[in-house]
Amino acid sequence: SERLDGRPQKQRLLVVANRLPVSAVRKGKDSWALEVSVGGLVRALLGVNEFEANWIGWAGVNVPDEIGQRSLTEALAEKRCIPVFLDQETVHQYYNGYCNNILWPLFHYLPLPQEDRLATTRSFQSQFAAYKKANQMFADVINEHYQEGDVVWCHDYHLMFLPKCLKEYNSKMKVGWFLHTPFPSSEIHRTLPSRSELLRAVLAADLVGFHTYDYARHFVSACTRILGLEGTPEGVEDQGKLTRVAAFPIGIDSDRFIRALELSPVKYHIKELQERFAGRKVMLGIDRLDMIKGIPQRILAFEKFLEENPDWRDKVVLLQIAVPTRTDVPEYQKLTCQVHEIVGRINGRFGTLTAVPIHHLDRSLDFHALCAIYAVTDVALVTSLRDGMNLVSYEFVACQASKKGVLILSEFAGAAQSLGAGAILVNPWNVTELASSIVYALTMSAHEREKRHHHNFMHVTTHTSQEWAETFVSELNDTVVEAQLRTRQ
Ligand code: G6P
Repeated sequence: SERLDGRPQKQRLLVVANRLPVSAVRKGKDSWALEVSVGGLVRALLGVNEFEANWIGWAGVNVPDEIGQRSLTEALAEKRCIPVFLDQETVHQYYNGYCNNILWPLFHYLPLPQEDRLATTRSFQSQFAAYKKANQMFADVINEHYQEGDVVWCHDYHLMFLPKCLKEYNSKMKVGWFLHTPFPSSEIHRTLPSRSELLRAVLAADLVGFHTYDYARHFVSACTRILGLEGTPEGVEDQGKLTRVAAFPIGIDSDRFIRALELSPVKYHIKELQERFAGRKVMLGIDRLDMIKGIPQRILAFEKFLEENPDWRDKVVLLQIAVPTRTDVPEYQKLTCQVHEIVGRINGRFGTLTAVPIHHLDRSLDFHALCAIYAVTDVALVTSLRDGMNLVSYEFVACQASKKGVLILSEFAGAAQSLGAGAILVNPWNVTELASSIVYALTMSAHEREKRHHHNFMHVTTHTSQEWAETFVSELNDTVVEAQLRTRQ
């Protein structure tokens, strides 16, 4: 469609994710402080001029009163954000419960909770009910703001029910759904009591996207084996209705990282870090403090490396930045204690009066500090037990144009499929192998480092987040047009 001035009109995109890219802190009865968090998804869409993105998501705070809800809605509108208000009990059952205690672990191949089977079954049912209720609340808000021609792009495991709810409102809505986690083998998915309902709800979308071809294949085989539907090269067919299924590997806004390295605050940070760690090789882990990231395994491998290589003990430091996340979920609380215990033990064992082998931080870094730390790193450790894609590996590569450091990467991260040729691939469960890959990385020849870095740098700078978003949305538009043509024939 064209505007009156002849310029192509921007397509309106409703981007729906559990979390809005803006977090709100209440300052008074009707006043709010908003903090914009420029995560990967926001960046991806900022760079795309064809769309006008509007965000719909959970406000992230409990706002039980109407005055508060109205004022927050107004404040968020300036950022093109529309809040979904969830009460505390729903958040507890939907977000802490079904999303992060059931779906998230399961999709990363960590089995369902099984401590007390009866109690688990009961809470499972009420959590699933809350999950459906929350998805319906998202659908209600979307439906209120939807205008004909909009594209609705739903994100992640929190919102698997959303495509179905939306199509029930309006079968003509263009609905895409993208999963940012792995989709596990159908043998894992079928352990989920609500396995079929979830698959059917997702299949209501026009286009279903995953980071890798394997995840897409797992999804299709879950639909064929569990639902008995037909898998085709295009996707999944149910009584003549096709749901398109495909892989769309995400990337990062690599230019933003490359440009940041030229900024004086970043240069200042870099100098500071270089002085602080002079004479030592810097190893780096940056993750949300999540069980899928393999943080204990990584630290244990580092301990083994120190144990077996006494000459390296005063020549290397591991910086582990662990950003607290989902802190109301007991499994995450346990993990935090476990990591602290291991770090304490290793620092006690190998530390001296003036230096410790592991610098562990329980917090995030601002963007400038983050770029600086990537730039001074010699060896990055991305050793997730499972990971949808993992963009830390991409960000590290983008910041390594001068250092050409080594990436040790889990074969179970989606990124292994794109950066595998440049990285050292490891099985993170194999602590012995991981320890020896640290030695290999630290002693690698400059020639090999350059070759590996070049491969990854080319990939990271040519497969950007903008390209990812454009590809998904244009594929979604095409899919809908094709479906219309098919039904007219
Ligand atoms: C992963 C998920 C995202 C989620 C993020 C942070 O990357 O795929 O959907 O937003 O973790 O987790 P949180 O629970 O804090 O939103």
